Amino acid sequence: MTDIMILAAGLGTRMKSQRAKVLHEVAGLPLVCHVMRAAFKLSPASIITIVGHQAEEVERAARDEAGRLAEKEGRAGPELHFVLQAEQRGTGHAVMSARELLADLSGPLIILAGDGPMIKSETLTRLAETHSAERNDATVLTVCMDDPTGYGRIIRAGDGRFLRCVEQKDASPEELAVREVAVSIYCFEIKALLDALDFMNTDNAQGEYYLTEVPQIMASRGKRVGLLLHDSAEEVMGINTRIELADMERKLRERKLIELMLAGVTIVDPATTYIHQDVEIGEDTIVHPQVIIEGASRIGRDCAVQSWTRLKNVEISDRVTIRNSSVIEDSRIREGATVGPFARLRMGADIGEKAGIGNFVEVKKSKIGRGTKASHLTYLGDATLGDHVNIGAGTVTCNYDGVRKHETIIEDGVKIGSDTMLVAPVRVGRDSVTGAGTVVTKDIPPDSLAVGVPAVVKKKLTGKKQ
Ligand code: UD1
Ligand code: CA
Repeated sequence: MTDIMILAAGLGTRMKSQRAKVLHEVAGLPLVCHVMRAAFKLSPASIITIVGHQAEEVERAARDEAGRLAEKEGRAGPELHFVLQAEQRGTGHAVMSARELLADLSGPLIILAGDGPMIKSETLTRLAETHSAERNDATVLTVCMDDPTGYGRIIRAGDGRFLRCVEQKDASPEELAVREVAVSIYCFEIKALLDALDFMNTDNAQGEYYLTEVPQIMASRGKRVGLLLHDSAEEVMGINTRIELADMERKLRERKLIELMLAGVTIVDPATTYIHQDVEIGEDTIVHPQVIIEGASRIGRDCAVQSWTRLKNVEISDRVTIRNSSVIEDSRIREGATVGPFARLRMGADIGEKAGIGNFVEVKKSKIGRGTKASHLTYLGDATLGDHVNIGAGTVTCNYDGVRKHETIIEDGVKIGSDTMLVAPVRVGRDSVTGAGTVVTKDIPPDSLAVGVPAVVKKKLTGKKQ
């Protein structure tokens, strides 16, 4: 069984950042997590991640991702190891830091860089298969690039055999003209790798231990080194600068949108639509221009998501319409409901079937019953609303007394008049009605009409600034 190593200790100087490179995000996920996904899919025995810069954060991100994947797939997943490379002295040095751990393993080890987020697990599988079929000690994945600047060049002998890999900074003009490059993805026999590590040196332009030197060391010691020329340069692109980060964001985004369109989702304007990798959307749903959908969001069939809307971690059933300019997070919207325009839903808002949440309405941590409507300018927080309730414009659940939050309960069939203040904790009994401008401070029994304002001055506030 294969083991996998992810190199993720570098700072990424070219990012010009205080943050470790592999923690920078594309498509809503840190780079290292994308790589973890590809590694996890391969079901290796173990995944060893080399960490250095912001080691704790990188470890947490990688661990969380593996945890999420394990939960999603209902399996334990590979054993995870994190090895600290305290000082970053090159990719070869990164592997050397895991020497002890590697000594306990045998068989093939796939090594890949934590800054190449588009790598597919199928490609890693092919690499491992080629490696064992050819009985290689090392198999180096390569691609041909139109512009190979920055990558290590692969130098082959006249018969195509691997000779060596030369880093950009060490290459002669002839070598720089070579378009075949190393992409920081390898498969090694662990024993042969460990032997070769002893022969590495830092006689190069950067004074670093280059992992790219290892295959050459192996070849010169009579080991078998193979090359696997891959056809997609895009898939193995590494991120070194923020320009490449933005470029990668666009590529990953396009890949996701194509996947959704092929699965029956209408994306009116792919150029302005941002949908993260884990989002699921059902057939015949229409996503209008300038929409952002993030996190673990699930949207059903026959829905419409109108423009300038942002959705994050939402669960939306079938036939739901989200009108323009709504911002919705961590919420659930049930079948046939309509939300927006300019609606704000958050912290576990749960909107019932065929309910209507309209213009400038905010719903926080509240359950809204079936067919219930709050159409204009309303705040519903920490509230439970029954079925077929109507909330008039300007209604507020006054849930905060300055210290604690309190609940409002509105039972089935209630009609709340415009501008009603519901001072929580309070309950409005079923089929009751409040008049416009009412301030409700006490529970209202069922089938009642409540009107008026009970403002009573109790005492003067003291200790306040004059
Ligand atoms: C590396 C390769 C280059 C290849 C390119 C492909 C070497 C010497 N060069 O160059 O041939 O074309 O990748 O993308 O290997 N890292 C550590 N510890 C370190 C240094 C780096 O863990 O001491 C990690 C980084 O976090 C990163 C990965 O290794 O994830 C690659 O390092 P990076 O500095 O980006 O290498 P490149 O210069 O891109
Ligand atoms: Ca790189």
